[in-house]
Amino acid sequence: MALALALADRGAYTTAPNPRVGCVIVKHDEVLGQGWHARAGQAHAEVNALREAGDQARGATAYVTLEPCGGHGRTPPCVDALIHAGIARVVVASVDRSQHENHGVERLRAAGVVVEHLPCPEARELNQGFFSRIERQRPWVRIKLAMSLDGRTALATGESKWITSAQSREDVQTWRARSCAVLTGSGTLHADNPRLTVRLADPQTAFVAPLRVVLDQDLKGPTDAHVWDGEAPTLIFHGPAVTPQGVPPDSVRFRQVGLSDGRLDLHQVMACLAEEGCNEVQVEAGAVLCGALAAAGLVDEWLIYIAPLLLGSDARPLLGINGLTSLAEARQLSIVEQCLVGGDLRLRLKPLGGESALSAVVAEAI
Ligand SMILES: NC(=O)c1ccc[n+]([C@@H]2O[C@H](COP(=O)([O-])OP(=O)(O)OC[C@H]3O[C@@H](n4cnc5c(N)ncnc54)[C@H](OP(=O)(O)O)[C@@H]3O)[C@@H](O)[C@H]2O)c1
Repeated sequence: MALALALADRGAYTTAPNPRVGCVIVKHDEVLGQGWHARAGQAHAEVNALREAGDQARGATAYVTLEPCGGHGRTPPCVDALIHAGIARVVVASVDRSQHENHGVERLRAAGVVVEHLPCPEARELNQGFFSRIERQRPWVRIKLAMSLDGRTALATGESKWITSAQSREDVQTWRARSCAVLTGSGTLHADNPRLTVRLADPQTAFVAPLRVVLDQDLKGPTDAHVWDGEAPTLIFHGPAVTPQGVPPDSVRFRQVGLSDGRLDLHQVMACLAEEGCNEVQVEAGAVLCGALAAAGLVDEWLIYIAPLLLGSDARPLLGINGLTSLAEARQLSIVEQCLVGGDLRLRLKPLGGESALSAVVAEAI
């Protein structure tokens, strides 16, 4: 299964909106076939592994990182391919609720195939965005922020280019490439005019261009901003009081959402992004929007780059969250990864207890 997980990870930048899946066919301790899913619309991991195994697949075990599909999508069901190839046993590392109506596992068992569930946290982690969209009808939300050692993200003037090293900024590109959308607020649009595109160090690396998303309640964002340049699709969320004027380029779309406490309803925004097929959303915004997302309980992961410099107390804070009166009210996070990137410290954190709704499915029987 470790090999199947490594294969699945090869699709990290390309499978969206599909999940990343790997499959290994084994008989008598010998690996006969390996496969992974590369792109939506192309062959699934099981089919690629079966192709490599050929006739030897008869009587073998298939290790699959995600429950095999039982329904017709853009390709035929993997369950049928496994049965047809004569696979004797299928070991599954994670459950796919989106497939349950197709009764694929029941069909495998009815055909005499032994199906075992080997719950594997790594398999959940690999597809946390896909599982979030399927199980919570909202994407997995990761906030990326670059800050100084004293927790500041921009000078009081708004200047923030650059707090962190070139290597950290290159690293951010790989996280963008994993994401289905890169989201910002109108404050950052005005201050930085970001491109929000993926520029990987190796230009040969394949990826699916993430959707660029801007929250611009009153549509005051300039139409000559980079997000209008057609280099990647762009979706602009606005409030009910305004309507888009003029004819936007093909790459730019608008969606209206309602308000909550006078601001765009962030839960509605995320539900819309799930409808758009977004698994992972990377937020690259300022203190106002990042604070609002945190306050709405919509942040699943923090990616923080800490640069060894001091910007002083009049510089802008990490988050616009006010009003805590006791330490007991503090938001608790746990560090899940730490490393040095260039001269900066990169931390990956998750809210304590934040994944409980998603984790419950790990132990679900199939
Ligand atoms: N260090 C870093 O990693 C980093 C990253 C990004 C940005 N920055 C810096 O951050 C600064 C900009 O930050 P900012 O806080 O002013 O802007 P922001 O967080 O990027 O955007 C905030 C704006 O988003 C809009 N918005 C729409 N719906 C919202 C909602 N539900 N909740 C909150 N906001 C909503 C609001 O403007 P409307 O009402 O007009 O829609 C709001 O003023 C810049 O100086 C930039 O350089 C730093």
